[in-house]
Amino acid sequence: MQFKSDANRWGLGARSLHWLMAALIIGLGVVGLYMADLPNSPQKVKIYALHKSTGLTVLALLLLRLAWRMADRRPDELAMPRWQAAAARAVHLLLYLLMFALPLSGWMYNSASGYPLQWFGLFNLPSLSGGADTALKEIAHAVHEYGFYLLVLLLAAHVGAALKHHFVDRDDTLARMLPLVRRHHATSLPQPLATAPAAPARPPLTPAPAAPPENSPP
Ligand code: HEM
Ligand code: HEM
Repeated sequence: MQFKSDANRWGLGARSLHWLMAALIIGLGVVGLYMADLPNSPQKVKIYALHKSTGLTVLALLLLRLAWRMADRRPDELAMPRWQAAAARAVHLLLYLLMFALPLSGWMYNSASGYPLQWFGLFNLPSLSGGADTALKEIAHAVHEYGFYLLVLLLAAHVGAALKHHFVDRDDTLARMLPLVRRHHATSLPQPLATAPAAPARPPLTPAPAAPPENSPP
């Protein structure tokens, strides 16, 4: 499987980044909602630290994903009504914005609370607020929490649309993003395969008799 996308398929690079980030973001959301209500304990501190480091990893992966997207191409758009293509583009743009806003607001919330920030205990990250700031802390917390609820709504539309394309329209929107799903349409095979000429006929198994020499009797 090739790393770069082509006209018909997302490449391994784009697909790996999409699914790795989707898994991390969904995990962060579940852990984020669960951890806030835990009673104070060393366990809670560890879970918070893990949430923050993983969230920062998502931010780093997003930068990598955007750089990769610029170097890569996007597969051609499949046939669909114009409003659907526009809605998909708008949802994708909002998802990218939230993939920025969630880790950045988390980082800002941590900074405005006056806490230091480390990445898996390996190195420190600078404060985004230059010290504790109660008003900023509340705004950052609201962006972090409500931003996540907005992400959940957008994801419902995103996943719903992917499933509708697959099961109702029976097109390759989902299949060309997933590694293992069977594709519906031969028309979206890579061009060289779809238009390849028929294989040449096999040569006869028995050699043709040699031509008689020039001076042999008739
Ligand atoms: C946190 C979870 C997710 C996020 C943030 C996310 C985000 C995105 C973004 C931003 C794109 C656009 C890619 C681009 O044009 O560069 C995309 C494409 C896509 N996503 Fe997701 N996604 C998530 C989960 C899912 C899930 C669970 C599914 C399927 C059930 C899915 C199916 C797809 C498909 C099929 C495409 C390709 C759409 C196309 O070819 O136009 N995504 N996703
Ligand atoms: C894509 C990345 C992230 C996602 C999806 C995410 C999601 C969440 C969610 C859903 C919550 C629960 C919200 C609430 O009820 O208060 C939460 C809480 C929290 N997040 Fe994140 N987060 C991400 C990244 C980060 C980062 C990078 C940091 C810090 C550097 C961070 C710091 C926190 C903190 C400190 C809380 C606890 C808030 C409280 O105690 O009320 N998050 N996160």
